[in-house]
Amino acid sequence: MRFSPSVVGILSIASQALAVPNIQARDVSSFIATQKDIALKGVLDNIGANGSEVTGAGQGIIIASPSKSEPDYFFTWTRDSALTMKMIIDDFIAGNQGLETTINDYIKSQAILQTVTNPSGSLLPAGAGLGEPKFLADGSRFTGAWGRPQRDGPALRAIALITYCNWLIQNGQSQRARSIIWPIISNDLSYVGQYWNSTGFDLWEEVQGSSFFTVQNQHRSLVEGTKLARDLRVTCTGCDQAPQVLCFLQTFWNGKYIVSNINDNAGRTGIDGNSILGPISVFDINAYCDSLTFQPCNSKSLANFKVLIDTMRATYSINKGIPVGQGVAVGRYSEDTYYGGNPWYLITTAAAEFLYDAVAQWRARHVLYVDETSLAFFKELYPDVVVRQYNSGNYNSPFEKMMRAVLAYADSFVAVAQKYTLEDGALAEQYNRDTGVPLSARDLTWSYAAFVTMANARNGQYPPTWNTRQAAAPPATCASTSTPGVYAPATAAGAPNITTTCQVNVVFNVNATTYFGENIYIIGNTTDIGEWVINSAFPLTAGGYTAERPLWSVSAFLAAGENINYKYIRQQNCDQPYVYESQNRTLTMPACGSPAITVEDAWVGPVGTPGTC
Ligand code: NOJ
Ligand code: NOJ
Repeated sequence: MRFSPSVVGILSIASQALAVPNIQARDVSSFIATQKDIALKGVLDNIGANGSEVTGAGQGIIIASPSKSEPDYFFTWTRDSALTMKMIIDDFIAGNQGLETTINDYIKSQAILQTVTNPSGSLLPAGAGLGEPKFLADGSRFTGAWGRPQRDGPALRAIALITYCNWLIQNGQSQRARSIIWPIISNDLSYVGQYWNSTGFDLWEEVQGSSFFTVQNQHRSLVEGTKLARDLRVTCTGCDQAPQVLCFLQTFWNGKYIVSNINDNAGRTGIDGNSILGPISVFDINAYCDSLTFQPCNSKSLANFKVLIDTMRATYSINKGIPVGQGVAVGRYSEDTYYGGNPWYLITTAAAEFLYDAVAQWRARHVLYVDETSLAFFKELYPDVVVRQYNSGNYNSPFEKMMRAVLAYADSFVAVAQKYTLEDGALAEQYNRDTGVPLSARDLTWSYAAFVTMANARNGQYPPTWNTRQAAAPPATCASTSTPGVYAPATAAGAPNITTTCQVNVVFNVNATTYFGENIYIIGNTTDIGEWVINSAFPLTAGGYTAERPLWSVSAFLAAGENINYKYIRQQNCDQPYVYESQNRTLTMPACGSPAITVEDAWVGPVGTPGTC
């Protein structure tokens, strides 16, 4: 391992940043120059069918990491894939022509994935399946227990595809955007407009509630969708919800920082890397800093940045002794225990990207307004700062001195990532909080993609604007509204013309007392519930489980009128065998057009025993 610049080297830069040419910055520049190519290659190696690290992955399927055990990340997550594809599309638009095949493969793969019925539901009739967080590498459904649904995926995918469509329009290919890609986007925007106000799991797949990152991206997708629909002369179902989503977004601010998860029971502070990943993914070089979209240059975003970084400085021992105003190792949130709770590469580079973005916005606006909210952020970097308007000026103006201080601060986060990156440039998911040694999934696609977007931001290569200035203002009072979506397979892009057999919503409730670590599934004779194949059984969730009522539940859409044979099974911990109910159950689904039904069952048969592992 290479611990390149010494800690002392990193620490000394802030004091020098304003006065002398920045030696460290030169180091960071050359690191970024070589590492960016490694990162882009790392991404492409993880995309099927030809990616050298992911043999067996379907065409256009973006695998999270080649790691198949501890952890097994050999799946495709809608979120990771969409964020990665946005980077690829932006790089393509900036001139990297070679990426267009990858973009087209992704488009086809997503058209197909949208139609895959999964434990979150199906595309038809109500879009529920679009909230499924991940699929197998060949594009088939994943049936294990998981934090689902996750409602950021459709929004992020829409954002990536809208960016590509805007480019197609500008390059004389509107017809292709309208007939092939819009139907995929339309499904995703329908989902956003219908479910933005329903809780789901956050981007870290742990907290059920409302997530800042999710809502922020949902808003962006609807604003951009509105404009694209106008340009293509099509209708966007769901886009009318944008002002309400923007209204809701404001409620995450608690006066001091962004509370990343609300409407949840996680019992955390809510200080979370979520709140810097959101602002960089909705970054718009043309935005005003007082835009309600929480841009990087926004005072609330900056105040939140300081709170988050102060928390991170106090969380990891590798940050010990690093003073304020200096970049630190940044992870998900201080209470994190996943792999021991460590800093992540993609969040450390996101901190740098956030600051590069903010500087770009101030420079583009030629003005910086320091207010009471952002004052503490600036004080760390430029002690003379006061609350006032700073207009741009010459090299020695306070405005330019502050810009250089923020850029040096940004570089110091890159220097931390650099310090813990091995010689070959491989980026795992995390690096150890005490030793800095890489850990968890190796060659994480998202780590690489995040490096590239950071590098582009530093080099002044910004993604196209998304018209934040045109976003409709939120209503005076927020309301919990929803627009029913319109869903159809995107057949022109390659989706199978899935049958629109009439389905009826059925909720299976079963009382089954379980030990911690035990899961309940339903299995039966129809395709939706696995045709008695154990690996295709359908998971229930324990969200409503209490001491009074040990409730496991799932809501599904099943074919009207069909006869179902089923039973519940227990998945034991420690790789012990499954435990089956001792009887088969029957259910005749009601006729087409019937309202939702609820089946109330209670476990019949042997119970499980916790293993010792
Ligand atoms: C896997 C998820 O991907 C990760 O985010 C989470 O922390 C762990 N499961 C533990 O719940
Ligand atoms: C765990 C992370 O928490 C989640 O955000 C990510 O989607 C998966 N790993 C896959 O990379």
